[in-house]
Amino acid sequence: MRRVAVRVDPPYDVTIGAAALDELPTLLGRYRRVVAVTQPRIHELFGTALDGISWIETMGDGESAKSLSTIESLCRAFATGGLLRGDAVVAVGGGVVGDTAGFAASVYHRGIDVVQVPTTLLAQVDSAIGGKTAVNLPEGKNLVGAFHQPVAVISDTATLATLPDAEYRCGLGEVAKYALMPEGTALIDLLRLDLDRVLERDAGVLADLVAVCTEIKAAVVAADPQERAGVRVALNFGHTFAHALETSSSRTNDVQRLAHGEAVAIGLIFDVRLAHALERVGIDAVDRVHGVVAGLGLPVAVPGDVGREELLAVMRRDKKAAGGLTFVLPGPDGLTVVDDPPAHALDIAFGSVGVS
Ligand SMILES: NC(=O)c1ccc[n+]([C@@H]2O[C@H](COP(=O)([O-])OP(=O)(O)OC[C@H]3O[C@@H](n4cnc5c(N)ncnc54)[C@H](O)[C@@H]3O)[C@@H](O)[C@H]2O)c1
Repeated sequence: MRRVAVRVDPPYDVTIGAAALDELPTLLGRYRRVVAVTQPRIHELFGTALDGISWIETMGDGESAKSLSTIESLCRAFATGGLLRGDAVVAVGGGVVGDTAGFAASVYHRGIDVVQVPTTLLAQVDSAIGGKTAVNLPEGKNLVGAFHQPVAVISDTATLATLPDAEYRCGLGEVAKYALMPEGTALIDLLRLDLDRVLERDAGVLADLVAVCTEIKAAVVAADPQERAGVRVALNFGHTFAHALETSSSRTNDVQRLAHGEAVAIGLIFDVRLAHALERVGIDAVDRVHGVVAGLGLPVAVPGDVGREELLAVMRRDKKAAGGLTFVLPGPDGLTVVDDPPAHALDIAFGSVGVS
């Protein structure tokens, strides 16, 4: 079993391995009452590992379930089930469950403990670590939320065996992002040695993969727990373009079918080309990004037509952009924010991912 400490205040451990769920009963032993929040399919798959939990609440699937009405239903169920200030919530599932149950725990009784048990690759390498919780509004994603660090994270890599391929690829997009961050050298080495086993979801390699990604995320979170120091922004590498691709209304079916991680992968290509056009990185960096993204079987260009002007308009509406265009780009000082790059550089970046 591997353990990675997330050094925030108070610190907590992420336990990673093929039988990490076995540690759940001991971890929860100190609580009087514990509710697990999950989804029906996940309960079907891993319900036996939840023996001993006081009771289980299920929620819906997909972004539409990440809503204030789910928060109300969960909090009312917590109250009916007698959950008090010193009790705990266990979020068992992907990022949708983790973000929603985490936010419910952050507001119920003004904040009770939450244990994150991520069961998707994306949640294990990213969303379950770092305390960002949120639900969506019709006006936008993740608009209502809170920072609420978990008391522990249990990443059981055996749970990833049942993940649909598209969901696995989704997580690989974030893996590519970490590999291409300045802290990603150990991950690049792991991918160089064991790429086939990563793609086959070999249990031993998965534990290493999740542990290395967790170390990178934990270090970034510890340096900037509340996203105020400008360090955590590095995690948005590839994401400005990815979000635009995911929300542009002119996108074709091919683009709509992209998993979030695939959109991130294309965003990484866009960003490194933009950085190269701005003379922030050499062509070796462009080659490295292409190598990692293509090696993981992720797309390097937008499949089908999507309007460039609309992508630009969506990027300007990005909640982090405050009206201009904001990217997180590699450069001599690592990943830093670049505002309003010139048109000629944007032309090159759009062209590199097949958007003209
Ligand atoms: N809080 C953060 O820092 C952060 C970071 C990144 C993403 N997110 C959020 O994460 C969400 C996406 O999370 P996701 O990609 O995990 O998607 P998800 O939670 O929707 O899970 C994907 C699907 O896989 C199913 N599933 C989960 N585990 C399974 C398993 N082991 N076997 C079979 N099926 C399984 C789920 O029921 C669901 O249908 C988004 O809402 C995003 O905003 C949050």
